[in-house]
Amino acid sequence: MAVNSVQTTPIEGQKPGTSGLRKQTRVFMQPAYLENYVQSIFEAIGGVMGKTLTLGGDGRYFNSQAIQTILKMAAANGAARVLVGQNGILSTPAASAVIRARKTDGGLILSASHNPAGEDGDFGLKYNIPAGGPAPEGITEAIYKRSSEIGEYRILEGAGEVDLSVCGETKLGGLAVEVIDPVAIYADLLRSLFDFGAIRDLFASGFTLRFDAMHAVTGPYAKAILEDELGAPAGSVVNATPLPDFGGGHPDPNPVYAKPLVDLMMGPDAPDFGAASDGDGDRNLILGRGVYVTPSDSLAVLTANARLAPGYAAGLKGVARSMPTSRAADRVAESLGINAFETPTGWKFFGTLLDAGLVTLCGEESAGTGSDHLREKDGLWAVLLWLNILARRRESVAAILQQHWRDYGRDYYTRHDYEGVDKDAAEALMADLRAGLAGLPEQSFAGLTVSAADDFAYTDPVDGSTTTGQGLRVFFQENARAVFRLSGTGTVGATLRVYLERFEDDPARLDGDPQVMLAEVVAAAGEIAGIAGRLGRDGPDVRT
Ligand code: G1P
Ligand code: ZN
Repeated sequence: MAVNSVQTTPIEGQKPGTSGLRKQTRVFMQPAYLENYVQSIFEAIGGVMGKTLTLGGDGRYFNSQAIQTILKMAAANGAARVLVGQNGILSTPAASAVIRARKTDGGLILSASHNPAGEDGDFGLKYNIPAGGPAPEGITEAIYKRSSEIGEYRILEGAGEVDLSVCGETKLGGLAVEVIDPVAIYADLLRSLFDFGAIRDLFASGFTLRFDAMHAVTGPYAKAILEDELGAPAGSVVNATPLPDFGGGHPDPNPVYAKPLVDLMMGPDAPDFGAASDGDGDRNLILGRGVYVTPSDSLAVLTANARLAPGYAAGLKGVARSMPTSRAADRVAESLGINAFETPTGWKFFGTLLDAGLVTLCGEESAGTGSDHLREKDGLWAVLLWLNILARRRESVAAILQQHWRDYGRDYYTRHDYEGVDKDAAEALMADLRAGLAGLPEQSFAGLTVSAADDFAYTDPVDGSTTTGQGLRVFFQENARAVFRLSGTGTVGATLRVYLERFEDDPARLDGDPQVMLAEVVAAAGEIAGIAGRLGRDGPDVRT
């Protein structure tokens, strides 16, 4: 075995987005593409000489191959040890848990989250810092800068593949490769937060559940925890075997891509509780019999009820939500007298608030919820917190939600996604909208009057870093809001996301259909941005 310094030239576009670098799998498989990026990460974090790293991914196509390459590069760059999930598997929250529990010098997570997988799908890679969370922008910018200057990468030559199928330790040159159980450390953490006894009693009383792992990484985690440990009936976890192409599906747990689960929950044979997670296990979808809980409402309900779980019995320090997430959680925070923060989209912005002890729970409208137990959003954590609450309250999901709206009012909410639209057209739409923001106040659209409009900017209250251009917000006098932003996780064309909400506290108007209750806000947003004309679309591809 020899360390080989391979000459290379910069490859354009290795710029991390909302969550790491995501590209089509075939792009990642091009010669030197992965190698350049990994070397850039190593150099941007001051080298990996003598360091210990965590490594694993969501099991999608190219996962195993990429892991073998990264191990050889870690060895050649002088890393001391890599903890790698068995068979290369670690869900994103499990990777964060391992980084924290084993105090590694950060980790590399191979995932493109909910993006379709396979040779014709997407692949992704991100670096997480020693606190366990996604690298903040200072680091992602340094990685990008390195990638545009790189002249060589280092890799071990003449080494065979490391066998990752059995837990235990092997050597790769001077590098110790420790293959770890992908579930154990993560399951220990969840066990420390929730009343597993109460949840076991709930299942023993006949409570039924369907968890859809969508052929992605959470299958083994959900089976081990929900079925084997908590006693959910065998078969409660479906699509539980991770497949390299996720079964050809699109594992984003929303009402469109998790339609079979939603149909079951809305039908006559619905179990008491339905949930799903995404490709890498950090997102969650929560349903009750006949009811879909929006992620924004879920964050609010969890905030209001978290004390029922042992890990949060002492109360919460605060709650943070991404800007496009509805204000439902803010209302709970206000009534509890705890902190509330509004951050840009992307989990990386919660890290400083969690580290500083300013907040305990965080959430995004895109089905991400989590807490200070780690530094990623965590799909199964959200499911278990809901189960813990249900086990203690012994009411249906629908009853809990309706009571919540009676107590706090309801933030009707929907997100409309226009996927795969022309990039230039989408960028022009945003640019024109941005240019016209100042003129919007006092104008009326579809019966609503604009009260204020801005381009969301954020100054981190802990480290003082500033982030601009995070989404265009239009507020209406009628207690409504529309937000426009372009997705930062796609790999082809552009996706326009339009986030729409309106507050209602009239007890007689709490049980409406969001698409009906928000019709005016939808129409106003469409008029303001000229969506139909500019994008040539009649309506969105996804309504969540
Ligand atoms: C999307 C979600 C965002 C989430 C990110 C990573 O990013 O909207 O909330 O943090 O995926 O899971 P976007 O495509 O909107 O940039
Ligand atoms: Zn994800």
